[in-house]
Amino acid sequence: MRDKVTIGTLRAKKANREPITMLTAYDYPTALIEEKVGLDIILVGDSLAMTVLGYDSTLPATMDIMVEHAAAVRRAAPTAFLVGDMPYMSYQVNHEEAIRNAGRFMAQAGCDAVKLEGGRNVADTVQALVKATIPVMGHIGLTPQSIAALGGFKAQGRDTDAALEIIEDARALHEAGISLLLLEGLPPEVGAIITEELPIPVIGIGAGPDCDGQLLIVHDALGFFDRFTPKFVKKYANMNKILTEALEAYRDDVLRGAFPAPEHCYTMKPGEVERLQARLAEKPRFSPAEETEMRNR
Ligand code: KIV
Repeated sequence: MRDKVTIGTLRAKKANREPITMLTAYDYPTALIEEKVGLDIILVGDSLAMTVLGYDSTLPATMDIMVEHAAAVRRAAPTAFLVGDMPYMSYQVNHEEAIRNAGRFMAQAGCDAVKLEGGRNVADTVQALVKATIPVMGHIGLTPQSIAALGGFKAQGRDTDAALEIIEDARALHEAGISLLLLEGLPPEVGAIITEELPIPVIGIGAGPDCDGQLLIVHDALGFFDRFTPKFVKKYANMNKILTEALEAYRDDVLRGAFPAPEHCYTMKPGEVERLQARLAEKPRFSPAEETEMRNR
């Protein structure tokens, strides 16, 4: 087993210009594979509300759901750097609630850090969490929890004023003490400026090739859905097609009696089938009178 990935490992990768690999995972079997292939960071994102639970936004994710899934991922991935995503309204109300909720990710799920969305508006919350010894990953640019305010899932920072606002947010979060920063849905130039300026690892999802690392949502990368795919996604498999074909084959096998075949069946011990039949014939279940009555019913 490799050594545990720590914030020190990730900082060293940035210093050596060695790309950092990151994907989301929400469940044990997927995380087992992500650990096996040696991904650096796994994010248990509140995107699970959409990818796993079928909602049309991330907002319905709750702390209980997030902690349960994060704990499952940690059981599968003991060495990855695990980030728990603070769901909507788990950190916005006050610092006490933010610390209590972030603490659940650390204590109950074994996370290495928590992620929260926002820039200067959450800098004081970041400070409170860091003071409570909880490492934080910031998340700016396209922030799905603010989708109503942003007017939809669309790229951010596409003109100078907007880009400067995002750069200011990155600086404020760094000053507040974040250990890592996630940039989502930004032009590559903005991604490069922030990555160059900050001394901490900066990961991009749709923020260009110059970030210190890359993140994708695992369901997008594996092609689970045949509906809309964001521009920044590269599909590494077409799981929708693979799984559809597999399930059709299962359905057809059952319908034509090809499954289960003899190799999928348990056998009785030698001679036991004959013994069983003889015993059943010896002692019929119903008397001849009962059988006639049932037939005439
Ligand atoms: O919830 C999530 O998976 C995320 C990504 C979209 C960055 O926050």
